[in-house]
Amino acid sequence: MPEKQIKSRQRVADHGEVFTSEREVKAMCDLVEQECDRIDSRFLEPACGDGNFLAEVLARKLAIVKKRYGKNSFDYERYSLLAVSSIYGVELLQDNVNTCIERLFKQWEKDYKATCKSSCNDQTKESVRYILSKNILCGNALTMMCVDDNQQDTNTPIIFPEWSLVTSALFKRRDFRLDVLLKANEKPENSRQLNWIEDEDSIYNYLDQNPVTGEYMPKPLREFEPIHYRRLKENG
Ligand SMILES: C[S@@+](CC[C@H](N)C(=O)[O-])C[C@H]1O[C@@H](n2cnc3c(N)ncnc32)[C@H](O)[C@@H]1O
Repeated sequence: MPEKQIKSRQRVADHGEVFTSEREVKAMCDLVEQECDRIDSRFLEPACGDGNFLAEVLARKLAIVKKRYGKNSFDYERYSLLAVSSIYGVELLQDNVNTCIERLFKQWEKDYKATCKSSCNDQTKESVRYILSKNILCGNALTMMCVDDNQQDTNTPIIFPEWSLVTSALFKRRDFRLDVLLKANEKPENSRQLNWIEDEDSIYNYLDQNPVTGEYMPKPLREFEPIHYRRLKENG
């Protein structure tokens, strides 16, 4: 059966909502095949819809996790969480956000069962849900602000956690503003010229300068102590 690429004419007119077909998604992911195959390579889709691209990237990453770590449930568990934690989305419409989160969760759960031949423990499931709730956000990718139920910008900037596996079972989380992450990577001069957030709220408040190279790096808004991957929610 052909996939449904349009939900309604109104949604196309209002939000340009036309979902990409599976064939195109796969072809585009093939263009960045090596990154898709790196378990911790981070992907952000700024208008992610219900997650067509993110689901494909996750499928590719989980296939690598299975190949490398599928024989050991502990390894599969933590590396599959790392794969989930590397996937980010912003979407204007809350129903799409909800569908996307549920879809990625189910995809991970199904893969876990197929690989580990058992259901996953509840704590790990909670952690996967928690990661997805922080990584897939309802927001405006143009202004990089969170939005309300009417798709209007709120005063809250989009903030994403950076997750990393620091020791065998411990995940570290650092939160960053999305606008700062993107602006700080702008060339030339690595944001030196930027004064783009409101005047009194200069970007330099959000950057750290490397004393040796002079380069500016995004400064985390918050850093969390490393915590076991099954207890990620406790850090929230
Ligand atoms: C063309 S669809 C693509 C969806 C998905 N990326 C795909 O390829 O299947 C565009 C999506 O962007 C969302 N969107 C529109 N304006 C947006 C904005 N300013 N910020 C975030 N998402 C937006 C729409 O709701 C819609 O789901």
